[in-house]
Amino acid sequence: MSERDDHELRVSKIQDGTVIDHIAGGHASDVLAILGIDSGTDEVVSVGMNVPSNRLGHKDVVKIEGRELSQNEVDVISLIAPAASINIIREYGVAEKNRVERPDVVEGVLSCPNHDCISTDGEPVASRFAVLDDGVRCAYCETLVREDLADHIDV
Ligand code: CTP
Ligand code: ZN
Repeated sequence: MSERDDHELRVSKIQDGTVIDHIAGGHASDVLAILGIDSGTDEVVSVGMNVPSNRLGHKDVVKIEGRELSQNEVDVISLIAPAASINIIREYGVAEKNRVERPDVVEGVLSCPNHDCISTDGEPVASRFAVLDDGVRCAYCETLVREDLADHIDV
C-alpha cells in the first residue's frame, strides 16, 4: 500500500485549510503548540501520529480546517520539523504545496529564557532570534537556545 493510501485511511481529507505533512514522528504536539492549539481550542484539528511514511519511516500530520498559517508560524515549524511540507487546501484540492525552509531570523512564537530580557520583562517587544546551525540566539540579549526549542514556545 502506498504512503498516500495508507495515510488516507487514518485521517480524512479536509475541505479548506492547511495540512502540515511530513512532520518527524513525535513532533505533532510541538507543531500544535507553535500554532497555539491546546485542548481548549475551538478550531477543527485532526492529528495523525506515527503514520507509516515512505520518506520518513514514521511521520506525524496536522490538519487544521479554515486556517492558513503566518510566515512566523511556518518559520518556527521549520526549526522543529525541517522535513515538513505545508499544503494549502481549497475545495478539497491541494492549492499550494511548500517545503519549509530554515529562516535567518524568527520573530514571535518562541520566548527568550532570560527573564531580564527586554522581550520578556513586560515591555511590548516581540521576541526575535537569529537562527544558527545548532539553535537560535536572542537578538536582544544574545542568550543561546541550543536544545529543546519546543520548551520555549510562547503559549
Ligand atoms: N490532504 C487533505 N485534504 C485534502 C487534500 C490533501 O488532508 N483535501 C492531505 C493529504 O492527505 C496529504 C497532504 O494533504 O497528507 C498532501 O496531499 P497530496 O499532495 O495529495 O499528497 P501526496 O502526493 O502524498 O503529498 P507529498 O508528495 O507531499 O507526500
Ligand atoms: Zn533575550
